[in-house]
Amino acid sequence: MKIDILTLFPNMFEAVFGDSIIGRARAKGLLEINFTDIRSYTLDKHGKVDDYPYGAGGGMVMAPQPIFDAYKSVCKNGEKPYVIYMSPQGSVFNQKKASDLAQKEHIVLLCGHYEGVDERILEEIVDEEISIGDYVLTGGEIAAMAVTDAVARMISGVVQNGNSLTESHSDGLLEYPQYTRPPEFHGRTVPEILLSGHDANIKKWRRKQSLLRTKAKRPDMFEKYQLTEEDKKLLED
Ligand SMILES: C[S@@+](CC[C@H](N)C(=O)[O-])C[C@H]1O[C@@H](n2cnc3c(N)ncnc32)[C@H](O)[C@@H]1O
Repeated sequence: MKIDILTLFPNMFEAVFGDSIIGRARAKGLLEINFTDIRSYTLDKHGKVDDYPYGAGGGMVMAPQPIFDAYKSVCKNGEKPYVIYMSPQGSVFNQKKASDLAQKEHIVLLCGHYEGVDERILEEIVDEEISIGDYVLTGGEIAAMAVTDAVARMISGVVQNGNSLTESHSDGLLEYPQYTRPPEFHGRTVPEILLSGHDANIKKWRRKQSLLRTKAKRPDMFEKYQLTEEDKKLLED
């Protein structure tokens, strides 16, 4: 899979995606992530990429020409990638959307700045607008990082040894509590069942904890979740 990020601030990204899990996945060739500097495509002789909004009002608007030319530069051989504009006006990102996007061959994430981008760019190249929450950021870069990270870890081989089936939001529930050594820390002990080595009982305990903590932390998710007869029994025990 390939992710192209169109931004005025490409340097923000290397530190985030050069290291750790995503950095290793890139080095292994499991996915390609490129950062394209929109400014390097401006035809303005002073290097300008924004201008005042028509109709007055405060702030600046990103001009269409540099964005369009930056976009064309990542469309090789006449291909049409799936283009997403990071925007507080988009539908709110979630795990399901991350899985869906991970199925695509090539996505382009467009990061706005200032007051946003000229509307005609949305009409001409954008397939979808995605928000990372109902608040306003100064630019789309942090949003594009969040989307890239969540999509990249859905690609086979990127996350080693993780159990994606029980992870929070994969199945409408939150994950059970996790513990590591030592068995006692500041007088708090690891639940005995996890030290028992009894796989079936550990599995049941984890399922019950997952149900209980979803109910406590995210009652909205719990209400929508379809409990099985086994789940109901676990909660009664
Ligand atoms: C200050 S915002 C522009 C907000 C715009 N004037 C509005 O009211 O809808 C600048 C840029 O940050 C990005 N951005 C801001 N909040 C975001 C969010 N919640 N999710 C995704 N991108 C966001 C977008 O790319 C946007 O173009």
